[in-house]
Amino acid sequence: MTTLPQTPSPEQGTPLTQEVISAEIAQARQAYVKAVEGGAPRRDHPDRAYPPYRSSVLRYPRQPLVDVRDPEAVELSGPVFGVTDVTDVDWDLTRQHHGEPLGERIHVTGRVLDRDGRPVRGQLVEIWQANASGRYAHQRDQHPAPLDPNFTGFGRCLTDDEGRYSFTTIKPGPYPWRNHVNAWRPAHIHFSLFGTAFTQRLVTQMYFPGDPLFPYDPIMQSVTDDAARERLVAYYDHDLSTPEWSLGYRWDIILSGPSATWIEESR
Ligand SMILES: [Fe+2]
Repeated sequence: MTTLPQTPSPEQGTPLTQEVISAEIAQARQAYVKAVEGGAPRRDHPDRAYPPYRSSVLRYPRQPLVDVRDPEAVELSGPVFGVTDVTDVDWDLTRQHHGEPLGERIHVTGRVLDRDGRPVRGQLVEIWQANASGRYAHQRDQHPAPLDPNFTGFGRCLTDDEGRYSFTTIKPGPYPWRNHVNAWRPAHIHFSLFGTAFTQRLVTQMYFPGDPLFPYDPIMQSVTDDAARERLVAYYDHDLSTPEWSLGYRWDIILSGPSATWIEESR
């Protein structure tokens, strides 16, 4: 765990600035690089204790994990999805309402692979995201940006025999959050993969290439390994773009091994 100096918090009456957060981000990254140079193993996943992500500091377990003595009992209540449960409208977020949503239409696709590069088939992939203005269709989102009556921002699909998932959606906008003063999230799409039981669920985020907010965001920067962090960024694939219709992005999700995609609950 990285030890960082105490900094003023908003609760103490001093605004927590981006400058303070950025200094902590740099310090955590330098500590990680130094540790790796000293022989420590590379880490694809962030520490649960990552101080720049202020709003998470009371949200991770500090007590030892509790043994579940009969894990199969938990899995009995796990999800069972079949091809008939997921329809075309589920994976095309631009067709879930009577009208068309505003914003930049995009196609996002990729493969879900295991550590040996084998496709993970029949996997339920869910996404949720803000609209083009950076607003979630959720009552707790109070960002004063317009809601879009034609965009809910939830989608799901099953991976095919090649482990491929596919969504048509709208490019989400960046949005402010209250981690510190002037904190903005880079545009991102949340992903969930269910596996074959609730206990196997993986949650992560996909980002868009070239976003100027990357260096300022403590959630993305909590992945202190440069290569692991870059694997969270989709790439623009011109061959995926549809003439006169949409732009294409490709992003693979690797479940484990040296090329693993960071997941929010480190394994
Ligand atoms: Fe988000």
